[in-house]
Amino acid sequence: MRKLHFIILILIVFFLAGCTQQIKEDTEIQDTKEDVTMYIELNSGYKMPRLGLGTWTLKGEVCQNSVYHALKCGYRLIDTARYYGNEKDVGIGIARAIKEGLVSREEIFVTSKIMPSDYERAYQGIKDSLKDLGLDYLDLILIHQPGYNDEAVYRAMEEAQKNGLVSSIGISNYYTKQQVDEVLSYAKVLPAVIQNENHIYYQNQQLRDYVKEYSIVLESWYPFGGRGHTAENFENETIVQIADELGKTPAQIILRWHLQEGYIVIPGSGNPDHIEENYDVFDFSLNEEQMKKIEAIDLQRRYENW
Ligand SMILES: NC(=O)c1ccc[n+]([C@@H]2O[C@H](COP(=O)([O-])OP(=O)(O)OC[C@H]3O[C@@H](n4cnc5c(N)ncnc54)[C@H](OP(=O)(O)O)[C@@H]3O)[C@@H](O)[C@H]2O)c1
Repeated sequence: MRKLHFIILILIVFFLAGCTQQIKEDTEIQDTKEDVTMYIELNSGYKMPRLGLGTWTLKGEVCQNSVYHALKCGYRLIDTARYYGNEKDVGIGIARAIKEGLVSREEIFVTSKIMPSDYERAYQGIKDSLKDLGLDYLDLILIHQPGYNDEAVYRAMEEAQKNGLVSSIGISNYYTKQQVDEVLSYAKVLPAVIQNENHIYYQNQQLRDYVKEYSIVLESWYPFGGRGHTAENFENETIVQIADELGKTPAQIILRWHLQEGYIVIPGSGNPDHIEENYDVFDFSLNEEQMKKIEAIDLQRRYENW
């Protein structure tokens, strides 16, 4: 009889543990407000955080501290690139957060990109990124921009994925259906993400809707227009008006718009206050009218041409 009680007790413990785990998984993926989730499931089967820290132009201690601070205040996605020359600093920020027990490697998502000058040696380029970052694997590797031998670079990314160096692969700066179709024509593994310039003055919903049928997600770079153009974005009349209505900052309105549009977004910042402000966008939502007003700002105007 005692033995039976013991077995029932063990079964109850296992049942409750299973429920707790399920609840945890559900809240991680579930909506925080409206249709915005903290994570998105990629076509590779991996989960990617929707909001991350961009690190372009960040170097040295500012870069290390920004990455560390972002992880400390809740970010789980860090975006870098071989071209930025800051992978060692990004790695130091990550290592510090892991060492202090703030996050584990498995909890964070690190993206890097193969730079054009490495396109002849793309596989080695990925290994160089890993070495400088001090990581065993990357969560996402992107070809930084179209080049002269994209297919060979794509093959190297597929090989790296097969060998466990990267979990997911993707492309960056491919803006048209034609450009994407070309990649799809030779891809054995579908790109999981397309990282493109995308902001209130250049909205590419057309591409977002086209790639949806392949479960490919669009990730926005320059969400604030990039260094030198932020005032034009933050001071936009519509953005300021909505910010006033909701008691939020223009940066928060813009980021919330990206999330509600279905994008992954990676605002860059070397300022701890901005880093915190930019992550504080999961407790409010824009209504349909506000979303439409922001869509109407679009000028189909990019700041860069690479
Ligand atoms: N794939 C590609 O080709 C490509 C190209 C460009 C960028 N990217 C990626 O995308 C990321 C984002 O782009 P980005 O960093 O160039 O431009 P961005 O995110 O549009 O803007 C960054 C600028 O916004 C300022 N800022 C950030 N948060 C703010 C806030 N709450 N209030 C006021 N100002 C704020 C930053 O200044 P502070 O530092 O003072 O906060 C910085 O000057 C990059 O960091 C990089 O990871 C990818």
